[in-house]
Amino acid sequence: MERKWWHGKTAYQIYPKSFMDSNGDGIGDLPGVISKLDYLRELGADIVWLSPIYCSPLADQGYDISDYFAIDPRFGTMEDLDRLIAEAKARGIGVVMDLVVNHCSDEHEWFKKACADPDGRYGQFFYIRDWHEGEPLPCNWRSYFGGSVWDKLPGHEDKIYLHLFHKKQPDLNWENPDLRREIYRMINWWLDKGLAGFRIDAIINIKKLLPFRDFPADRADGMCSISRMLEEAKGVGDLLHEMAEETFYRYDAFTAGEVFNDKPEELPRFIGDTGCFSTMFDFSGHLLNHSERGWYDQAPVTLDQWKHAVFGSQRRTAEVGFLSNILENHDEPRGVSYYLPPEGRCEAGKKLLGGLSFMLRGLPFLYQGQELGMENVRHRDISEIDDISSRDQYKVALEAGLSPAEALAVVDRFSRDNARTPFQWDDSPNAGFTAGTPWLPANPNYRTLNLAEQRRRPDSVWRFYRALIELRRDPVWAETVVYGRLEPWLEERDGLMAYFRRGDRTLLVLGNLRGETQACPLPGKIRQTLLDNLSGFSVENGAALLAPWQFVILEMED
Ligand code: GLC
Ligand code: CA
Repeated sequence: MERKWWHGKTAYQIYPKSFMDSNGDGIGDLPGVISKLDYLRELGADIVWLSPIYCSPLADQGYDISDYFAIDPRFGTMEDLDRLIAEAKARGIGVVMDLVVNHCSDEHEWFKKACADPDGRYGQFFYIRDWHEGEPLPCNWRSYFGGSVWDKLPGHEDKIYLHLFHKKQPDLNWENPDLRREIYRMINWWLDKGLAGFRIDAIINIKKLLPFRDFPADRADGMCSISRMLEEAKGVGDLLHEMAEETFYRYDAFTAGEVFNDKPEELPRFIGDTGCFSTMFDFSGHLLNHSERGWYDQAPVTLDQWKHAVFGSQRRTAEVGFLSNILENHDEPRGVSYYLPPEGRCEAGKKLLGGLSFMLRGLPFLYQGQELGMENVRHRDISEIDDISSRDQYKVALEAGLSPAEALAVVDRFSRDNARTPFQWDDSPNAGFTAGTPWLPANPNYRTLNLAEQRRRPDSVWRFYRALIELRRDPVWAETVVYGRLEPWLEERDGLMAYFRRGDRTLLVLGNLRGETQACPLPGKIRQTLLDNLSGFSVENGAALLAPWQFVILEMED
């Protein structure tokens, strides 16, 4: 495998709306991010991905872009962004923006022009079809946020347009070379500004199965999940390669693809040496127990399931490239609330989960607040929820016969709002995020769970993450931590997650996934303990006695 400049980095996702508010309007902004660059430096983040800050009506929190070349005034100005890029660079941090090009906003001028003249140039930028009341739709796909993917084209009684996401997010027609050229021009315009690269949103959806057709319904609404058409759509790799050649390759840019529905044979083309992305996120944990019926139908994920899922991903990619390892992001609940059983949601458990994920082969990608062990929130009523997919899933749960209280509990487990509450800086009002009223209330646990408190304490979750990041950077260990082969140890043993990283040194990573002590047989002699989330362990008859939720990184004799 060819070595790349970003392999040894640690990446960090910022959700700007909830990171730091500089002017008291309750919305996090770019000056807020700039004011925290020293914090990011101190933590050890080298690549920082900003969720969208482009002009947007915020129907889907910025993933609906109305102007690709402008910053939404709520987040700041282009000068702020230029300053952020420059100041980050001065601290050795590369800024990565979100590239949202499967769709734009219905308030983008392309869509407005398409509505004004559906047969003109911009009509071809979208999927617009003739349709008359009473006729069947071109296909029965259900949009990701509920309801049909088809809606009436504004201003036209006899035309409809396609949106795989919200109706304010019309899909762009990637079959049209004219549209593709516009997108590449825009990407290069941004790369010329000195961005390190992009996280690429929902990208697998750009290839539609054409001509449109129905699939068997998977719910009572008569519609089917979009994943059905993605399984059959062929040729996304060609589009992605063209994009990479016209843009990313020319700048040696870093790109992380959001890919949920990849096919095994596509992997080398996606993340191999000449892949169209640098890396893609490993969502295998988040796909566990997934049900097409909806969130209400999903059983809690166990740590053992998670272990097998990520080991599977490691195997699939070992010879191909680097995955980005995540526990959470702005679309997922907090990892510690999702993966840890209730009795494991303590600081030891949080460090265990963080350590096991961080030490996998690949690029560690932290989400803001993960380094503190931030948790899910409880809501009293659905009206407190902002996220559009949560509101849809609430309805789906009610329709399936759950009571409002049960439906709310389901939403609390999965809601995207869980990750979107303000960053918990300290115990002052609103967690130190804003002097005004935050757009989404802070998790009330900020009074005890916050950065200022964890900074004061040597055994905090935050200190532990810093130690992990330092280990990855340490020239003595980097070769093994970054490039070492991952080899599971005692893989079939429930309640234990253990693996070697074999590079120029040999590391053994051990995690006790249970609330009881267990003896873990050791494959050889320990040279030293590099990291421990508790305070040591004893070895008896060649086995390490691991306390509940204990996590250790050992150097072994080769
Ligand atoms: C991606 C984003 C998500 C957004 C969707 C549509 O999955 O991460 O937040 O809603 O794409 O752009
Ligand atoms: Ca603000």
